[in-house]
Amino acid sequence: MSAKVIDGKAFAANVREKVAGHVTRLKEENGITPGLAVVLVGEDPASQVYVRMKGKQTVEVGMNSYEHKLDADTSEEALLALIDQLNNDPAVHGILVQLPLPSHLNSDLVINSISPAKDVDGFHTSNVGLLGTGQKSMVPCTPLGCLMMLRDHHGSLSGMNAVVIGRSNIVGKPMAQLLLNDSCTVTIAHSRTKNIQDVVKQADIVVAAVGRPEMVTGAWIKDGATVIDVGINRIERDGKTKLVGDCEYDSCAEVAGAITPVPGGVGPMTIACLLANTVTACCRANN
Ligand code: GUN
Repeated sequence: MSAKVIDGKAFAANVREKVAGHVTRLKEENGITPGLAVVLVGEDPASQVYVRMKGKQTVEVGMNSYEHKLDADTSEEALLALIDQLNNDPAVHGILVQLPLPSHLNSDLVINSISPAKDVDGFHTSNVGLLGTGQKSMVPCTPLGCLMMLRDHHGSLSGMNAVVIGRSNIVGKPMAQLLLNDSCTVTIAHSRTKNIQDVVKQADIVVAAVGRPEMVTGAWIKDGATVIDVGINRIERDGKTKLVGDCEYDSCAEVAGAITPVPGGVGPMTIACLLANTVTACCRANN
């Protein structure tokens, strides 16, 4: 079998177009412009790139972007004071603190200081609990993007065997929860899982989110399975820097029924979902 390529870039463009339409209506009918505040602490090069892309796309869909860049040695007190100010600013509907934070800052404390209604990352303990109990919440952007592509490809996911590889709070755990809420039979595999290849081989849906370049090969994949590759890994090959996923693309694409490429798969969906979450937060705040 040669897999259908799930085009995340095109999917994300479509999501952004819909978001832009919502933004236009909010402006024209309610006189409200959704606003997203992004906070970056320090100079991590990858984080700087992500924050720049988020700001650019926020403006492109017609929303207001507020960027706050703080020095790497910013105190927890100063960061919490900024978040408090953003929580109380009616022009700000979404707040995102870019992770990872420098090690002297307590990420859990910082995330939980964001107002849950403005937590467009869906990382606040309150949103995690709401998602876990199947209630209306803010849903983390990367898993939400994966779910949208899976629903688009399959229609109903009910009864499917899903294996999520990776147990991070940002992707693995919320992804598993979303798949469970869609009535999949869900397994979370991780670095300590025994016979991981055999576990993955049972899956109709594989979501790989481990951050290990090309760990999953075609030999792990069941014939016709759908492979969602969340990994974005920079490797050196043939003297060049290359972006690869957590799945070895060529061998997995030979066996899978559908697969997301890297780049151009899950990556573009993350920011598109962030924009969608910001509009959602804005609508809920004004209803
Ligand atoms: N760092 C890597 N992914 C994310 C994300 O989805 N949100 C935030 N805030 N930081 C990240």
